[in-house]
Amino acid sequence: MIRLKNREELKRMRVAGRVVSEVLMRLEEEAKEGVTTWELNEIAEKICATGGFKAAFKGYANYPASVCFALNEEIVHGIPSKKKVLKDGDIVGIDFGVLLNGYYADSAITVAVGKIRPVAEKLLRVTRDSLYRGIDMVKSSNRVLDISKEIQTYVEKEGFSIVRDFVGHGIGRELHEEPQVPNFIPPNGKGGGIRLRSGMVMAIEPMVNEGSEKTKILEDGWTAVTYDGKLSAHFEHTVALTDNGPEILTERIH
Ligand code: MF3
Ligand code: CO
Repeated sequence: MIRLKNREELKRMRVAGRVVSEVLMRLEEEAKEGVTTWELNEIAEKICATGGFKAAFKGYANYPASVCFALNEEIVHGIPSKKKVLKDGDIVGIDFGVLLNGYYADSAITVAVGKIRPVAEKLLRVTRDSLYRGIDMVKSSNRVLDISKEIQTYVEKEGFSIVRDFVGHGIGRELHEEPQVPNFIPPNGKGGGIRLRSGMVMAIEPMVNEGSEKTKILEDGWTAVTYDGKLSAHFEHTVALTDNGPEILTERIH
């Protein structure tokens, strides 16, 4: 069942989205050489404590922290650690969500630490652009898989691969609601999936690999990494379909 959001619910989700974008902007600023992912998580926890926000991921399926990180070959869901020190040339995914006034918002960015290789630059650009291309497909005349198809086609044309093992999702009163929003056309995807309607809110989150799309999970039970050890990037926005088209609830204003 897809839960459409009314005006009042969208208002609340806008507030949650703004908080998420502000935390991500702050973490982006702090993600410099020598900083640990542990310290970045602490910064987010402090902001949450001060503002009275509940971090969405902490305790979700027993996830132990407030932020998920993904360094280099890590795709998503890396646990903060004092041993994970950012160094020049790294790329790091930062994924964060909050629960505020009964509604969730969820967003992720991947940022460069110092000077990164050209292929890493391209991976970040293509992954970010694929998200925005997907968002452009969020309109009432389309179906969910129009988003998926746009993302997949663009990413593969640029020579990268789309992770199949994790997908985007509806979001609202719960962090994960229907529908699933894959970043690829699934084998049974002929009909194009569910029709998009005003009031739908989705977290669209392409995960793009430099090499093979294959993944594996590390022994910590959380960290998803590329099977071939090559780079991966992740960008995510919470997006509402309104009567005026897509509205990005987690957009960062620099
Ligand atoms: N952005 C991710 C998601 O939508 C983060 C979930 S991590 C978890 O699924 F810790 F909450 F599981
Ligand atoms: Co998400």
